[in-house]
Amino acid sequence: GKGAYDHYMLKEINTQPTALKQTIEGRLDVEDATVDIEDFDRGTFSEFDRVQFVACGTSYHAALYGSKLLDDVGVDSTAYRANEYDTNTGPACPDTLVVAVTQSGETADTLKAMRYAEADGATTLAVTNVVGSTAAREADHSMFIRAGPEIGVAATKTFSSQVVSLALLSRQFAMDFPDASPRADFDELAEALARLPSDVETVLDQSNARTIANRYVNDDAFFFIGRDLGFPVAKEGALKFKEITYQHAEGFTSGRLKHGPLALVTPSTPLFAIVTGRHNEKTLTNAKEAKSRGAPIVLVTDDPDAHSDLADVGLEVPSTHPLLEGLLANVQLQLLAYHAADQLGRSIDKPRNLAKSVTVE
Ligand code: M6R
Repeated sequence: GKGAYDHYMLKEINTQPTALKQTIEGRLDVEDATVDIEDFDRGTFSEFDRVQFVACGTSYHAALYGSKLLDDVGVDSTAYRANEYDTNTGPACPDTLVVAVTQSGETADTLKAMRYAEADGATTLAVTNVVGSTAAREADHSMFIRAGPEIGVAATKTFSSQVVSLALLSRQFAMDFPDASPRADFDELAEALARLPSDVETVLDQSNARTIANRYVNDDAFFFIGRDLGFPVAKEGALKFKEITYQHAEGFTSGRLKHGPLALVTPSTPLFAIVTGRHNEKTLTNAKEAKSRGAPIVLVTDDPDAHSDLADVGLEVPSTHPLLEGLLANVQLQLLAYHAADQLGRSIDKPRNLAKSVTVE
């Protein structure tokens, strides 16, 4: 049940430290900086040249995040929205590993993309929360994210556990893929992964997201911008916000702001800028452009003091490895969406028109 929480969503946000521990448990050796994922012996993925991710909604955002993690270890990868996969890519081929990211393992669009890839001779891997789901049964390989059951329609802990699973997989791929050229030193990432549950705990304990949600909740529209790993977080922040508040929210790469959306920016459109990890200079410039049009600027950052002239207010996260700070930023945005929806009295666990898994194409 929900226990002491008003909603499953809040419970699921708050139990992320435990979920993440389960995701990592027994799979990460910090001392040796290696991973050991059940069923995947060394070399399991040694015949592949590239990865294609297929996923929908929040899982697509996790796939975008994962694709950047693979980039970092020199593995060629692209994330596709599963519903557009067949029209956006040529046929997959035997040297392509198609990774379906799906919490439920039952999303029709994702299953269809997997089957399409399989028919082309690709090998498939399902990254899923549900053992025995259709995706897990049909895929050649499975990795379970072990987040525990998620009841709220809005995906929260499963996003975090998916991203961490993909971070572990990135290490496995870096060791297996013949063309990988590990740029990243896994030592520091391994340590940061082990610390992640307690970093999330810190965010949960110290978050001011409720105050910020209350301040802006009745505004006209909500923009979320970020670059690099901040991009999937901006997309996910906007999706979560619109899904449960029914307020208009959009997430995009920072640089897109001036190519259209800026026309909508007013003192009643708060801009949430993800300034975690790396490559933030342009995001800061773009946030300034919005500020000069009067938009309130909320910076999600590990260094609020550095940007006190720009930000009206900050959502702070602990500093950690640049590849993982985005995950902490995302927890702040989950809380923001939750408190905004709560303030508006929305049906948080079952938003209108939405179902937990979308089993029609
Ligand atoms: O079960 P899946 O991960 O395949 O579901 C994909 C999307 O339908 C899902 O993430 C949806 O976007 C959530 N309601 C987002 O909170």
